[in-house]
Amino acid sequence: MSQNHYVKRVAASASLVVCALLFMQTGQPQGPQVGTDYSTWRDVMIQGADVCIIACVSLLLVSTYKLFFSPMELLKTLEDVGYIREDGRSKARTANDVRRRRTTGDLPPVYPNGWYRVLDSHMLEGGEVRDVTMVGVKLVVFRGEDEKAYVLDAYCPHLGANLAVGGRVVGNCIECPFHGWQFRGNDGKCERIPYAEKVPDFAKVDVWPSCEVNSQILVWFHCDGEDPQWIVPEQDEITRGEWVYRGRTEHFVSAHIEEIPENAADLSHLTHLHTPGIVSGVDLRYTNNTTWQFVRHGWKFERDVMIWNNKKYISKPLLVKEDSAIQKHRRWYSQFYSENSPRLQYQRNTLDF
Ligand code: FES
Ligand SMILES: [Fe+2]
Repeated sequence: MSQNHYVKRVAASASLVVCALLFMQTGQPQGPQVGTDYSTWRDVMIQGADVCIIACVSLLLVSTYKLFFSPMELLKTLEDVGYIREDGRSKARTANDVRRRRTTGDLPPVYPNGWYRVLDSHMLEGGEVRDVTMVGVKLVVFRGEDEKAYVLDAYCPHLGANLAVGGRVVGNCIECPFHGWQFRGNDGKCERIPYAEKVPDFAKVDVWPSCEVNSQILVWFHCDGEDPQWIVPEQDEITRGEWVYRGRTEHFVSAHIEEIPENAADLSHLTHLHTPGIVSGVDLRYTNNTTWQFVRHGWKFERDVMIWNNKKYISKPLLVKEDSAIQKHRRWYSQFYSENSPRLQYQRNTLDF
């Protein structure tokens, strides 16, 4: 559960408790007629106020504890960040309109070959099953009895049920929710068909190479199905416990995956986009306005998100000498594409649709 959700839930529960207690207090026999005994009425109010104070202090303590002793997770949806709303439209409508009307540009292939993070390890307990969409494919991720995480194609080859939706872990297999076929996590082979005498050899689902490093589950994607070409290096500081997980922010961004790391090679934007102080906020219309209120706290990353969500990809950018690191980054990144790397099926470069 995210930090925000947790705090909201605690606040909601506390409010309910307070309301219930107040109701109980006011529901108790009041002695003489209401309005005739001022001191009784005052006692009830004081008791109610006490309950309120206790509830608020408890809430404060729980929230403070959560804030300092559990990982902070700030999760933002696509429409939360980086779009400018007009005409009283909803956030979701604005995001959809911008995505539909935007010129995508001449994009590189959409999924580079490499390792992709699927889940944090703590998100997958023993015997748990998760439904994941990755590189345009539906996957089932589960942790077997042997405590290993397995990643398989989600759709059952029998009649197409989604193994991740209602499937359960049996030993080191995933059992399909539809007719109960069981597929092994390590090689995808079907081990059991509950109503059949024999399991055909060809009954299997595709297994995705995966690994678990530094408390992250990663999956390997290669457009030609080639085996992993490198292993994910372990970060010793994490393994030794010197670096501890303190939380994360998660943003959904409407941009090509290559745009994100390219940002690090784009040195000139640091001065213009990120230098304006924290008081300038994340809305690009105000980043150079020093009078902007402090309450618009400046997650500087979100300034990039606003650019990414609205920009066009330019394959042959107009660069000056000082931008040379961008071109170097593009050359380096191109090694992760191969001839058959999947491309966007359609691109809308006009307003006609
Ligand atoms: S669809 Fe999976 S067992 Fe039938
Ligand atoms: Fe940036």
